[in-house]
Formats: sequence, C-alpha cells, structure tokens
Amino acid sequence: MRVRAVAAHPWEVPADVLAFPVLEGSALLGELAALDERLDGTLSRLHAFGELSGRLGGTALFPTGLPAQYLLAVGLGPPIAGDPRIAAHRFGAQAVRRLAGRAVHRFALWLGDDPVDTAELVSRGVAEGDYDPGTLYRADLEEPPAVIDELILVAPPGADVGTIAAAGERGVVVGEGTNLARDLANRAANDLSPMALADEAAALAARHGLAVEIIGPDEAERLGMGLFLAVGRGSDNPPRFIVLRSGEPPGRGSPDGRYLALVGKGVTFDSGGISIKAADRMSEMKMDKAGAATVIAAIATVARLRPGVRLLALAPAVENMPGPHSTRPGDVVRALNGKVVEIDNTDAEGRLILGDALVYAERLGATHTVDVATLTGASERLLGKAVTPAFGRPQGWFDEVAAAGRRVAERIWQMPLIDEYVHDMETWSAELSNSGPAEGSFVKSGLFLSQFVTKPWVHLDIGGTGYHRKATPWAAAGATGETHATLVELALAGD
Ligand code: BES
Ligand code: MN
Ligand code: ZN
Repeated sequence: MRVRAVAAHPWEVPADVLAFPVLEGSALLGELAALDERLDGTLSRLHAFGELSGRLGGTALFPTGLPAQYLLAVGLGPPIAGDPRIAAHRFGAQAVRRLAGRAVHRFALWLGDDPVDTAELVSRGVAEGDYDPGTLYRADLEEPPAVIDELILVAPPGADVGTIAAAGERGVVVGEGTNLARDLANRAANDLSPMALADEAAALAARHGLAVEIIGPDEAERLGMGLFLAVGRGSDNPPRFIVLRSGEPPGRGSPDGRYLALVGKGVTFDSGGISIKAADRMSEMKMDKAGAATVIAAIATVARLRPGVRLLALAPAVENMPGPHSTRPGDVVRALNGKVVEIDNTDAEGRLILGDALVYAERLGATHTVDVATLTGASERLLGKAVTPAFGRPQGWFDEVAAAGRRVAERIWQMPLIDEYVHDMETWSAELSNSGPAEGSFVKSGLFLSQFVTKPWVHLDIGGTGYHRKATPWAAAGATGETHATLVELALAGD
C-alpha cells in the first residue's frame, strides 16, 4: 500500500473511494457543508433520512459525480471525551473494514482540520482495520481484506503534505507490525510451538538485522532459570527463551544511557497444567503467547523505522501442559535471581516465566523494562476489552509509558502495588508463592513480578485487551496486537 498526501478540498480529489468521518449529534459543518453544496444537497438529504447519523459503526457508501467516485461516511459515535486520537484510529479502521471484499485502487481519507496530528493514526487504522485472521488458515473468505494500492491522505489546502505523508507511512509500518503480532498470537497452538515461535523470531531477526539468541532447556538449566523451566516441563514441545537485540548494548561502543527491554509472555498454550483449567474457553489459551508476539513484532517494527536503535526483546516461550513430568502444585523451585518460589497453582505460570525473564533482561544490561502479558483473567473483569491495567515504578517511568500509550490511542490505567501484601505471599517453605488467597489477587500478580526487578519497570496486563471474542466495527475478532504501537512509540521516543 503506497501512501500519498494531498492538500485539497474533498470535492477536488480523484479517487475510487473518499472516506470522511461523521460524529453523532453533529450537524454538517465547515468542509462537509461545502461538500454538500457541491453535491446539490445530497449529504443533507442522506442526513435527514438517517443515513449520516454518525452512529458508531454505521456507514453510508454512495456514488457521486465528483472526481472521487464513491463517498464513504464513517460513523464514529459521540465525540470520545478528550480523545480525538482514538476516533482518528477508528476512522481509518472502520472505513477500510467497510470495503472488505473489494479492490480499491485509490482509497482517499479526509483528515479534517488536524491533519498532522491524525495522519499516523488514521493510516495505522487503515492498516490494522484491513486485517482478518480468517486468512491465516483459509482461502475461501467471502469478504477478504480490501486490496488497496494507494492510500491518499487528504488535508486542507495549504497543509504540509511532506510531513503528513511521512506520518502516514509510519502509521502503515506500525500497523503492519501490529498485524504481525496478531498473526503470531492468532496461530493455533499445534502450529506455533515454542520452537516454531523461536524460528519465526530468528527469521525476523535475519530480515531486519537483529541479533538473536535462542536459549534451550540445557542452557536455561545452566543459567539457573528455575521458574522458566518449571512451566514447560509437562509438554513434549521443549521451551525456548528468545532474545532479540538491535543496536549495541551499553559499554560496547555506544554511549551509556537508557537501554530498554521489552519482555513478553510466550505461553503457546495454557492448559493450566496440573491445576488444569475448565474446558469452557480453554481454546482461547492459544492466545497466551500474545505478549511474546507483541514484543517480537515491536522490535522488528522499530528496526524498520529506525535501524540501529538500541533495544532488547525477550520472549520466554513454553507450553503449559499436564503430564508425568509436569510441575506439581506445592513444588519449590529457585528463580534466576535466587528467590525460592513455591508453585501453588500451576495455572499462575505467566508470572513464573516473566520473573526469570525480567531478571535476565537486567542481566543483559537493561536499565528500563516493560513487560506485556495475558497474565490474568481478572484484568478483563476489571477493565474490559478497551483499557489495559498496568503496574510499574518509579512513577516517572510509569507516566512515560502511559503517555506513549495516549499518543498512539491505546488506553493504559495504573493499578496500585501495595507492598505490604507481599507478606501474604510467603509460605512456610518459600519466600514467595505464585498464588495465594483470592483477596487482592490482581495486585499480587503485579507484586509478584515486582520481586524480580531492581530498575524502572512497567507491567501491561493484556488479558482483556489482547484479543476479542467478537469483531467490532474497527477490528476483527481474535488477537488485537494491543500495546504494539505503545512499545514502538516508547522505544523511538527514548532514543
Ligand atoms: N493466561 C491466564 C490468564 C488469562 C485467562 C488471560 C483468561 C486471558 C483470559 C493465566 O495464566 C492464568 O491462568 N491466570 C490465573 C491466575 C490465578 C491462577 C492466580 C487466572 O487469572 O485465573
Ligand atoms: Mn495460566
Ligand atoms: Zn497463562
């Protein structure tokens, strides 16, 4: 998909389809009123007939006599309080989803009055909206993603088209990265084992000039990754600890300073292990590698946008299965940082593999870490599908991550780390249990991870936001790639 920006009135732009946003409850003002005049009142008539209501998810597609053959009105609902960025992203995504099943040679989108601020989000929305996980395993989709040759960003006359086109191109690259994360997360567990994920990571590394290291069970044993190893034991698919690196690590010819590590939970399937899950929805647990998928895609996207940026991505990959070699509830293991951990519930496995991964990230020189994980079912019950609950400290680092999220239209909401609860997590045989009494269990999921970091750290729990059971007007069902854009933004902002 090529990206071009033009500074023109909407009625002047040659295109196959020109999309424009409509907010609920707002009249046809400004440029839309002028467009209506050029169309002899067609927009007003459609509006009066209820076709341009602006209802969220509503669209209207109609032919015109303009240089743009069809107009596509995209309903965004009532203005999202204080968040035009989310609306900009959804505009692109909803517009392109409406065109599924078609070939649209030139697809134009009218950016409105803040084209420089919205170009990246709208373009990313188009790239992400044009994703359908149905294409992973089948060739017979009735409405496959729209085929678009050229994305034309339409800004008001006089706008800086160079800046807008560059932002639009960046948005497409970030969106393609999000879709890569979704592909990896959506793949079935019989298709993407820890080994296969490591192979995918190595292939990406080769393509984008990243250094790669894959740690197998023998090396993990030698290093002392007792938490990581405890989770994969029950499976015939051996674990792989994936490390990707771009740029030079500190002290090797590059100035010291920030060294960011992205750490992603890579449970390719989470049956719960001996603490086995109920059958209901267990199949969703192929998505339990979404965090790993996100950090692997993020470092590849950063390498595409700015090669050589100093960045680490770590993805401990395991399959959590019951079997004769499985970890048992009550087993006691030693973490990479020496902590003695009792595994009381083998289904609380994400915090185990992440514990060792966070320690290893700091060992590789990371000064700042962000981990991404489908860590708890509670995250979804707490905040739903649209907001990612998060923990972290110090506050300044948390705020930086949350601000990056806001810039790219991803919502992150801080949860408290109540240190005194750590005492509840002690058992008679171990310093830390991976699962205790239910009260405060969500806070304890963050606290558990906090025991494995000594430097600025943020944990993003995508248990709710990482995948959707149903499609929305702006996204297909399945993995969302949520937080990929935030991580890319963060990695580029700090450099
Ligand atoms: N991968 C799950 C969390 C999850 C469940 C994410 C459902 C998305 C949807 C995680 O490994 C898990 O099983 N967590 C347990 C923790 C508990 C045993 C302390 C949970 O959330 O129930
Ligand atoms: Mn689990
Ligand atoms: Zn899990």
